[in-house]
Amino acid sequence: MFGFLKKKKKSLIAMDIGSNVVKVLRLDLNEERPVVTHFGMKDLPPEAIVDGEIMDRELVIQIIQDCAAEAELPNEPVASAVAGRAVIVKKIVMDKMSEEDAREAIYWEAEQHVPFDIDDISLDFQVLQEDVGADQMELMLVAAKKDMILGQAELIREAGFEPRVIDVASFANQNSWEFLQKGIGKTEVAPESEVPAAEGNDNIDDFADEVDEMPEPAEANAEFVALLDVGGGVTNVHIVREEVPYFTKDLPLGVAHFTEEFQKQLGLTWETAQQVARGNLEGVDRDLVQDIVRNVGSEIYKGLEPSLSYLKTAGEADGIDRIVLSGGGAHLPGLREYLAEVYSIPSEIADPLAMLDYDADLFADGEAKHLSPLLTVSIGLALREGVAS
Ligand SMILES: Nc1ncnc2c1ncn2[C@@H]1O[C@H](COP(=O)(O)OP(=O)(O)OP(=O)(O)O)[C@@H](O)[C@H]1O
Ligand SMILES: [Mg+2]
Repeated sequence: MFGFLKKKKKSLIAMDIGSNVVKVLRLDLNEERPVVTHFGMKDLPPEAIVDGEIMDRELVIQIIQDCAAEAELPNEPVASAVAGRAVIVKKIVMDKMSEEDAREAIYWEAEQHVPFDIDDISLDFQVLQEDVGADQMELMLVAAKKDMILGQAELIREAGFEPRVIDVASFANQNSWEFLQKGIGKTEVAPESEVPAAEGNDNIDDFADEVDEMPEPAEANAEFVALLDVGGGVTNVHIVREEVPYFTKDLPLGVAHFTEEFQKQLGLTWETAQQVARGNLEGVDRDLVQDIVRNVGSEIYKGLEPSLSYLKTAGEADGIDRIVLSGGGAHLPGLREYLAEVYSIPSEIADPLAMLDYDADLFADGEAKHLSPLLTVSIGLALREGVAS
């Protein structure tokens, strides 16, 4: 009612349910720099989520609850995310029309571009160019599978929380990176992105809100940035330029594959091999570790090639200009250097905590710096502030 009074920003609790680790995080968004007020993280046993599919629902729910209890989370609405493999980002050209009409027509258009049944997906888009000649306009189309979104919402509900936003992990990752770039959080939860309380509502349009809010198309000299989230089981490649996502894809290769090779080739226990993956090289042959990282890492390089060819063929870019590594794999010894070398471009490790304030007690001694790259998705979700009251 009193719009001139400063509204308080409501926090959403971020829940990043990865294939290896569950993370919960809450930010107070009312300070100049957002403050981490709650944080918790728990490992998931390898059999709980396999290839992105939840195999043991009860166990996952239990671990979410344990994590929430340990972090002493308040029971506030949740922002969570589904994995990138449920999502397709594609540039399309269609007849010129108003945005409102396009919202309807997009479903017909998408049929030609998305390899899923149109009834099974949620769609969003952004107009990139209003006029590309021949009475056509250019859009960035984002399609996400509804069953994944609804399944994730149900999981959160079963864990005792209210799912308010179901995002896509790669878009949350993008959000936290943009926040880091700018030093401010920007996206607000659009009403249509809210998850309805009732089950079975298939009009859910609840992902990638920022597609609506993205600014005008990029300048010609803007950088193409490859956000590489090397998680436990998969690596998500998300290519953006000036806040526009150009490509998103999951590669079936994560920290576990590196760990297996360390275990085999260095004759280590799984636990010690895991330590090596986290950058602890005490008592191991460093040269061999480097070789293994380069060898397994070359699979990421190969996996990236089709996306780069796609960008080149589409006349978008000669290549990527920068790599930003996140996820547990950011600590793999020598991976960042290897990628910088093969692409001859700057490669950095994401550090989203650097832009936030937090009580040192929230993290064990010296752990914050180490955990920071693992928190890009959680922080990107927690920045999606709730509707102001
Ligand atoms: N400090 C750490 N704590 C926990 N795991 C770590 C840490 N450092 C590195 N890792 C490794 O990173 C992996 C977890 O990374 P991350 O949290 O990004 O995965 P995830 O989000 O669960 O997986 P995905 O995104 O593939 O579903 C584990 O395999 C783990 O061994
Ligand atoms: Mg992850």
